[in-house]
Amino acid sequence: MTGTPGEHTVPLLETRKLSKNFGGLHAIANLDFKLHQGEMRGLIGPNGSGKSTFFNLVSSVYAPTSGSILLDGQNVTALAPHKIAELGVARTFQLLRNFNEITVLDNLRVGQHMHVTYSPLAAILGTQKVRSEEKRIREEMMEILTFIGLADFAEIPASELSGGQRRLLSLGRAMAMRPKLLLLDEPAAGLSPVNVDNLLEIVAALQKRYDLTVVIVEHILKVVMNMCQRVTVLDHGEKIAEGTPQEVKDDHAVIEAYLGREMNNEDIRAALMA
Ligand SMILES: Nc1ncnc2c1ncn2[C@@H]1O[C@H](COP(=O)(O)OP(=O)(O)OP(=O)(O)O)[C@@H](O)[C@H]1O
Ligand SMILES: [Mg+2]
Repeated sequence: MTGTPGEHTVPLLETRKLSKNFGGLHAIANLDFKLHQGEMRGLIGPNGSGKSTFFNLVSSVYAPTSGSILLDGQNVTALAPHKIAELGVARTFQLLRNFNEITVLDNLRVGQHMHVTYSPLAAILGTQKVRSEEKRIREEMMEILTFIGLADFAEIPASELSGGQRRLLSLGRAMAMRPKLLLLDEPAAGLSPVNVDNLLEIVAALQKRYDLTVVIVEHILKVVMNMCQRVTVLDHGEKIAEGTPQEVKDDHAVIEAYLGREMNNEDIRAALMA
């Protein structure tokens, strides 16, 4: 039997019998999920299988219909989204939500405001503490911008960025929250192959530098298969498989859910490796 990394420690993220219904639709059904510190987990499944809903539950955008969510062993099921963020969960959205009118740097600043340690009054008075804190924050944000290759664009409005750069900015905004757990919802959507590779290198470098645990939803299966130690597969809100990329790739239920029943094994393998 292959061991799960950190299987004897408390998971960073755990869900127990997590469910979310929209009317009669079971978007997430009875999901048991465990993720350990330091992992990069792939989350895959056909369109509408519940991947984004899972992120919306973990980041508390939605309240579950039933079941529970634990962070570091602490039950966080009913917490407000900003509390979840304070506990170190950040995510990107499938549809970008950058602030186009403000600068690239300010887009990151919006994300990190909760880590500011001075009082609003001190900010108004413009004290020494405020100034040194502002400097520290700027340095941190510039480090993130350097990582994602946008340092030269720090002072321009986000509206002037290219599509690929906007994807990177949304990653930078999530990083500005100094997360422990980073949830990436199709971070490479719409990128050209070169830009996909660039983004993935950045994600890997960020993970290393900032000691991140990552869940990545991605339709480009090659990405997930290459980057992740383990992959979880959803279909109709249920977990239908979990394991190493190799195990998942050979799993019949995955093949059927993902690719339809009419393909022969050779075609399936070709599609998964494409
Ligand atoms: N706010 C909502 N209200 C009603 N139904 C919803 C809502 N959000 C998601 N759903 C439904 O829940 C199911 C799961 O959707 P979800 O967006 O989580 O899928 P997904 O796996 O992220 O799909 P995709 O790969 O297309 O992004 C779908 O049937 C979707 O229509
Ligand atoms: Mg989605």
